[in-house]
Amino acid sequence: MLRVLILLSCLLLASVSLVLAESDRIPFSAPEESSIPAGPQGDLIRRGRLILTDTPQQLPDYVHSRLRCSNCHLKAGTVAYAAPWVGVTTRYPRYSRRSAGEVSLPQRIQGCFRRSLNSDAPAVDSEPMQAIIAYMVWLSQGISDGYRLEGWGFPRLSENPQPDRQRGEQLFLDRCAVCHGKDGQGRLDETPQRYPYGFPPLWGKSSFNIAAGMARLHKAAAFIQRNMPFSSGGTLTIQQAYDVADFVIHQPREDYPAKIHDWPEGGKPSDARY
Ligand code: HEC
Ligand code: HEC
Repeated sequence: MLRVLILLSCLLLASVSLVLAESDRIPFSAPEESSIPAGPQGDLIRRGRLILTDTPQQLPDYVHSRLRCSNCHLKAGTVAYAAPWVGVTTRYPRYSRRSAGEVSLPQRIQGCFRRSLNSDAPAVDSEPMQAIIAYMVWLSQGISDGYRLEGWGFPRLSENPQPDRQRGEQLFLDRCAVCHGKDGQGRLDETPQRYPYGFPPLWGKSSFNIAAGMARLHKAAAFIQRNMPFSSGGTLTIQQAYDVADFVIHQPREDYPAKIHDWPEGGKPSDARY
């Protein structure tokens, strides 16, 4: 009898929390850059935004690749389904299976420096980190803990088809090489009016390494289907996104020796590269 009661109350609790999670979902919106306040705090926020959008130039002592954070976190982290930073301060600290422990926001940021930027990371209490956090706190204003923001992370694609890498290569040449180059190395200096940040490299030393989230098939396919080709995102089918993602992620890229410490207690996702 007692067991039945416990089971029933568990079920009840589970359904209540489901309802809560659904009703907590809030529509995506990001504050305007022009509303960054004046004064020293505003200066710190602006400095953080500059670092995130102009990373190699702003942090030459740390960054050895040609990627900036906003190449993936589009428009300085203000675009839904491009891993936005709106509300990110309320999502940390959180448990990470990859490190089998709790990860703070500065530690998560360091992860993207080391893996996605294939570079060194500024210390948790350093000036660049403080500026980055100030910007993310400002972006997250008015969003309380425990919310679920629409557009968080990457989109959930409705299927995960088997990719065909050869088809992906052809699609890359047809739809991606015009900006990212046949050799995947991007172009930095052309059409500066339309593309002030140029076209970032997709593989090689100057791009993300094999331990980055973007090196995983499902994540790359989701990002690409939603956001690429640039300014005509959503025009590839899911199958095409998987084909081209599979081609891109399997091009030569840097190793990440510290990867041996990942997923120490198991739970490695099926699309991890190692
Ligand atoms: C019209 C030019 C253009 C085309 C075509 C294009 N991209 Fe991009 N891509 C960009 C730009 C610009 C960025 C960086 C966006 C930013 O910084 O705001 C980018 C970023 C990326 C990124 C993340 C950053 C990186 O370097 O890893 C990936 C992955 C990517 N593109 C893949 C693709 C794939 C795959 C295709 C073909 C289906 C494609 N792109 C087609 C311009 C383009
Ligand atoms: C090559 C693409 C790429 C680049 C460049 C990149 N990131 Fe990321 N970032 C990702 C991916 C992929 C994720 C995981 C998104 C997901 O799974 O929802 C992520 C996640 C994050 C998160 C956690 C977001 C959340 O909602 O939990 C933060 C914070 C972050 N990145 C900061 C940065 C910073 C700071 C930089 C520059 C030093 C950077 N990223 C550069 C791809 C990139």
